[in-house]
Amino acid sequence: MFKSEVYTKRREELHKKIKSGIALFISNIEAPLNYPANTYHFRQDSDFLYFFGIDLPGFTGVMDFDSGKDRLFGNDYEMDDIIWMGPQPTIKELAMKCGITDTAPTTKLEEIIKDALSKKRKIHFLPPYRSETKMMLGSLLKENPCQMITLASVDLIKAVISMRSIKEKVEIDEIEKAVDIAYEMHVTAMKMCKQGVREQDIFGTLEGIALAKGGGTSFPIILSVDGQTLHNHAHGNILRKGRMMVTDAGAETNLHYASDITRTTPVGGKFSPKQKDIYEIVLKANTEAIKATRPGISNRDLHFMACKIITTEMKSLGLMKGDVDEAVAAGAHALFMPHGLGHMMGLDVHDMEALGENFIGYNDEVKRSDQFGTAFLRFALPYKPGHVFTIEPGCYFIPELIEKWKSEGKFKDFINYSKIEDYMSIGGIRIEDDVLITENGHKVLGKPIPKTVKEVESICS
Ligand code: GLY
Ligand code: MN
Ligand code: MN
Repeated sequence: MFKSEVYTKRREELHKKIKSGIALFISNIEAPLNYPANTYHFRQDSDFLYFFGIDLPGFTGVMDFDSGKDRLFGNDYEMDDIIWMGPQPTIKELAMKCGITDTAPTTKLEEIIKDALSKKRKIHFLPPYRSETKMMLGSLLKENPCQMITLASVDLIKAVISMRSIKEKVEIDEIEKAVDIAYEMHVTAMKMCKQGVREQDIFGTLEGIALAKGGGTSFPIILSVDGQTLHNHAHGNILRKGRMMVTDAGAETNLHYASDITRTTPVGGKFSPKQKDIYEIVLKANTEAIKATRPGISNRDLHFMACKIITTEMKSLGLMKGDVDEAVAAGAHALFMPHGLGHMMGLDVHDMEALGENFIGYNDEVKRSDQFGTAFLRFALPYKPGHVFTIEPGCYFIPELIEKWKSEGKFKDFINYSKIEDYMSIGGIRIEDDVLITENGHKVLGKPIPKTVKEVESICS
């Protein structure tokens, strides 16, 4: 945990933003894998972590915006628990660690909610994403658990987003640690990227590094020579010369801050001329977008800048044609880059996504596009100092999508379908870094991970 003042200060800030009612922050609980006592790796709820810091299941934090008081609900461990788990802190001791003095057993929670309901007080909560949290809320509030997402407090969502979006120094330090773990993971993947090696061998090795150095991976590792599948969680291939391995992998620190890095490596460590052609395009989109990152410019502007770089360069290779601005405005580039340039990152790898993407990255003035490709942009607003974003352009040869568009004659004025055939074996290329927006510009976080053709070839050799 951070020092108790960090959590006290955050809660004080939230008290200033919300004027009345009470807020419930429900921690996650253990989730059974194949029988109740055999559980998945425990991951605390990120909002609970942000305001209360306690990394254990079964607690609820309540903030009363009228009285200004905070209280932690939970039960002390009993002898039956201690026999299996060893000595545990009391709830009072845990509460002190996040600056709270007032605690109560879980059974008391029902009473105070009942009382609040009877007085028609507003009960704020964030959109639950786990069934057990929906059930608990439904039971406390006497509502249908299936409705709990729609009943979440928009005021609380907006207040929490405004706070969690701007990273504190202690958080940035944690994210840098997470990127440094990713450095170890990616350099290891590059060194292992040799003919005859199984993807699973590399995948398992990276998982081990993330667990040995921090809190494990920040999302299921994407590692495949079938990089054209954007989130490919299968690792069954054997590496063969002529393919490129996309490794999209990040770690959590022990305090659960994330990194999210992608590198693409030619099997055997040497780029072929065609692989290099496409790699250099994605690299240019990545480095130019990072260079332009500063407060005031929007993630959507930067996204289109990267799309235009990709379109211009694909045109010079003969894969695209026509006017670049028109092609991008029409959405033709999305054949090769059907996703957004990046997303916020912090305690969640897609930071705060559970609170609703449109609350984070859009507002009343800036609405989400419904055009294929641009619709997947998670954030369209201007950057502010303290934001942490991924910059992750990519270029993919997705056989099913190419075949569909080709058969429909879609964008035939912008795409040279006959030329695409020469590049299909590339699969996909993505290059992703984690960037802090500073007062005057940006800072790429963590130890630089090999990225240029020369750097990648040198590490692989
Ligand atoms: N790791 C998934 C992504 O890059 O968004
Ligand atoms: Mn990623
Ligand atoms: Mn990402």
